[in-house]
Amino acid sequence: MCGIVGYIGANNAVPTLFEGLQRLEYRGYDSAGVAICGRNGMKIHKQAGRVADLVATAPKRLRGTVGIGHTRWATHGEATTVNAHPHTSGSVAIVHNGVIENAGELRAGVLANVAFATDTDSEVLAHLIAAQDGAALEDAVRAALLMVEGAYGVAVIDQRQPDRIVVARNGSPVLLGVGNGEHFVASDAAALVRYTDQVVYLDDRELAVIHADGFRTFTLDAATTTKQPVTAALTADMTGTSGHDDFMHKEIWEQPEAVHSALRGRVDHRFSTAHLGGIDLVPKDVLTLRRIKVLGCGSAYYAGMVGAQLIEELTRIPADAEAASEFRYRKPVIEADTLYVAVSQSGETYDTLAAVEEIKRKGGRVIGVVNTPGSTISRACESGVYLHAGPEISVASTKTFTSTVVVFALLALYLGRIRDMGPADGARLIGALDTLPGQIAAVLDEESRMIDVAHGLAAAADLFYIGRVRSYHVALEGAQKMKEITYLHAEAYPAAELKHGPLALIGAGTPTVVLAPDDELWDKNMASIAEIQARKGPVVVVTDCRRPVSGAERILVPATEPELQPVLLGVVLQLLAYHVARILGRDIDRPRNLAKSVTVE
Ligand code: AGP
Repeated sequence: MCGIVGYIGANNAVPTLFEGLQRLEYRGYDSAGVAICGRNGMKIHKQAGRVADLVATAPKRLRGTVGIGHTRWATHGEATTVNAHPHTSGSVAIVHNGVIENAGELRAGVLANVAFATDTDSEVLAHLIAAQDGAALEDAVRAALLMVEGAYGVAVIDQRQPDRIVVARNGSPVLLGVGNGEHFVASDAAALVRYTDQVVYLDDRELAVIHADGFRTFTLDAATTTKQPVTAALTADMTGTSGHDDFMHKEIWEQPEAVHSALRGRVDHRFSTAHLGGIDLVPKDVLTLRRIKVLGCGSAYYAGMVGAQLIEELTRIPADAEAASEFRYRKPVIEADTLYVAVSQSGETYDTLAAVEEIKRKGGRVIGVVNTPGSTISRACESGVYLHAGPEISVASTKTFTSTVVVFALLALYLGRIRDMGPADGARLIGALDTLPGQIAAVLDEESRMIDVAHGLAAAADLFYIGRVRSYHVALEGAQKMKEITYLHAEAYPAAELKHGPLALIGAGTPTVVLAPDDELWDKNMASIAEIQARKGPVVVVTDCRRPVSGAERILVPATEPELQPVLLGVVLQLLAYHVARILGRDIDRPRNLAKSVTVE
């Protein structure tokens, strides 16, 4: 979603801002802009479209030692150059992530006499700050923020006070980068990866005033806070495509390593259990647990469904997953003996964060399963488990889906071994986890087979994905991958539900991808295939069973323990979606209308 970058120091800010904006492109955006303070005052340059367009159209003489930049993902007002950030008022320029909920009220009230240049909610902030005429910029920003309701990550400059940038955060991430005689601002450490790994994360309702040689932090109530830089675990290598055509392909191929990282140091072969140092759940707590509720959005939700099933099967603790975006609105009963698990790759998804806050407000216990260290959700949860999958840049989640399932397997192992799971069952799961990276690599080696099948699927306008129990959850994720990067219509159903409605749509032009592991439901899946084929529907079966399936394309995966089979099926579905998207010439890493990190409601 929207991205912020800022620079203050002795060098020209422009190249740093452009590079930072390019590194934030993966978050999803539709326009971009910069504000630069130089010898001749402040210059604004903004543009609808890509950062490359912004760079290409930048005036040659655009330079200055202080600047802020932004990538915008439209919420209030269309994706036009006018609505792009920065927004200005008098000598002030601001960039803003988040939503100002009382913007309408402020426009009609205290700002009634102001002529607005844009349709955005963000512009009100620029006018509110400029209205605090004569105040030090940090005081003006603080006074303005006390008048707004909503979420913000904001960076502000004033051409009359060019020795500072003021930043603030409430519900939308902002961090400072500490350099030598220079400082940076970003909404995501990835933007600063070539300049510094020393970062300071701001907390909600916290502000910072940044100069070339230092910074000071304080709260909205003007109380001084003390912040120490921490090292961001990111390198420039991690944010490149490493010879792959795009990030999605790189990240699909990184899965064997991502699974290794998720497992590293966490498997106890001796006692057939798991060590999860990040969660503070002692055996006594585990014995009192009566339920586990997993919350996440999109692919994190689907991975959570696989995880909840795994936990319930292995621990016999009732577990289910729910869309975090729905959770707080249905007045959930928060139970003291339920363990809530929030899943998020970015750690910044607003709906998931709101669910975490709601649980905490009502006294519930919530742990995180998060990929991004230091992210808002990881800090909001009492404790948690990191995926250690490394940065995921492509909008479509791939390696983090897989790593999330693996972390749930470890969680199930830990909880299960405290409850009823015996050492033999623990060892069975550990054996399967140990061989999983090699098995994923074997699936990847069959990529050419997925390319063949993708050619058949790319001609369809609608596709169905079906599976039963664990495989249904992967079917949801497979259909999601297909929709988001190919723009083909894809729906997932529990296999037995087909005949309760969607079968009416099955015909020669609507292929169905059937996830049919070699388990006790094999015959039932064959019956579903027969129903589809009787309506002339083309079938692709993804399975570890070597028995032939007449009239269907078959993609074979290695056999593993049933609880982990979803991982291998999932990798096939990623490659199918990826290659259909390539055949159709889609912008794979940046699908239309989508953002990597959805930081608004
Ligand atoms: C799927 O490919 C998307 N990236 C999306 O569904 C994503 O999983 C969802 O927006 C949640 O993001 P999070 O894991 O960062 O919380």
